[in-house]
Amino acid sequence: MPIVVVVGGQWGDEGKGRIVDLLARKARVVARYSAGNNAGHTIVNEQGEFKLHLVPAGIFYPEKTCVIGNGVAIDPEVLLGEIETLEQRGIDTTRLVVSDRAQVIMPWHKSLDLLDETMRGAAAIGTTGKGVGPCFIDKVARRGIRIADLLRHEDLTARVEAVLDYQNRVISNVYGGEPIDARETIEKYAQFGQRLASYVGDAQETVLEAHRRGEYVLLEGAQGSLLDLDHGTYPYVTSSVPSSSSSGAGLGVGVGPTEIQRVVGVFKSYCTRVGNGPFPTELFDETADRLRDHGKEWGRGEYGTTTGRPRRIGWLDAVAARYSVRFNGLSAIALTRLDVLDGLESIKICTGYELDGEILETLPARESTLNRVQPVYEELPGWTDATSEVRNFDDLPLPAQAFIRRVEQLLECPVDLISVGPAREQAIIVDPIL
Ligand code: GDP
Ligand code: IMO
Ligand code: MG
Repeated sequence: MPIVVVVGGQWGDEGKGRIVDLLARKARVVARYSAGNNAGHTIVNEQGEFKLHLVPAGIFYPEKTCVIGNGVAIDPEVLLGEIETLEQRGIDTTRLVVSDRAQVIMPWHKSLDLLDETMRGAAAIGTTGKGVGPCFIDKVARRGIRIADLLRHEDLTARVEAVLDYQNRVISNVYGGEPIDARETIEKYAQFGQRLASYVGDAQETVLEAHRRGEYVLLEGAQGSLLDLDHGTYPYVTSSVPSSSSSGAGLGVGVGPTEIQRVVGVFKSYCTRVGNGPFPTELFDETADRLRDHGKEWGRGEYGTTTGRPRRIGWLDAVAARYSVRFNGLSAIALTRLDVLDGLESIKICTGYELDGEILETLPARESTLNRVQPVYEELPGWTDATSEVRNFDDLPLPAQAFIRRVEQLLECPVDLISVGPAREQAIIVDPIL
């Protein structure tokens, strides 16, 4: 059976959690492979509404195994809090496996994240402030602390002692911040380790074993491909690889690229971005406010799941989206929040970028160039009927059908799933993805 990856196609918050919750029906294992608790995935199903930062969205099905892979940066305090909240709400978390190889977000990572953003001033990335970037820096610098280290006091002590002197010097001498106490940290994180111990295991073997048995494995991406360290709008990106490229999905759970058969890209019917950086189709008018505040009365507007920041809003950018389709090798698109466009007189899609009289059809690498491009728009008629109760493609208003067909053409990829609301059943399955 195939391993299927679900990735965000834009700048995050496309509705990955919602799509994974739906697709997980047929999977045996659902695994997160990258990022950390900078992610915030919203799931609405018969058990209620949940916001997950680390636990995979498959956790709501009693028989699924959920895995947090080696590629994830874990804040143990956040993970324990999430597990506790789920248990209190009646969700069994005993089928969660946390990779012993995953990196741990330590207190200095959180300090450094905030100190570094302050030092960057006007050039700040606009991070979520969760310490994820500094944790990945330490991973690459080979001074990271891993989940396995939390489980043995001597190992944890040795690891913290080896790294904290260095980090405290950076914190105080470079940034003028407060040094962190080694003893206190060791005791606190050793306790986290004890509380997590029953969840810790061999994530790679869990995934591969299910795969060998011929069962579906679903890999849940976090963030979006345009935030990808390698392919995204650098330097305004995250510090990991959210895309499905060989250094992303497979590596983050320990499966080879040949094992991955399908990659599903989740795209909103328009665009959003939280944090700083180029956004060619960004809107600052009443359409932006309208799209942002759709569903706000139920706490479902475009406000960050992790930080509560208002999301920047823009029209669908087909240039950036096609770039993302191509480098992810997408086999299908799941298009979300179509219902949010209901009632608009017309809808725009950016089909090219104009730069100094020339039309660009792909994303330029240079940030200063991307900041100067002018989007070229195609305007399509909107529709008045509500789409949130529609379950068949042919029952969608004709202009909505035409919009989706145009998205497929421009992105060069079939739209196999259309989401018309946040709840599990509010979906149109054009072609079953698994
Ligand atoms: P993720 O990070 O990609 O999982 O996305 P988030 O959960 O951060 O943000 C997506 C938001 O859109 C959440 O509030 C979801 O409940 C909501 N959502 C997902 N799909 C739909 C949809 O088709 N229609 C509407 N109205 N809301 C949706
Ligand atoms: P989900 O999984 C949206 C953004 C931050 C910032 C940049 C770097 O919910 O889609 P970081 O804290 O990662 O160092 O911040 O990346 N970012 C996200 N934006 N959704 C996310 O996750 C994000 N994770 C990180 O806003 O611009
Ligand atoms: Mg999110």
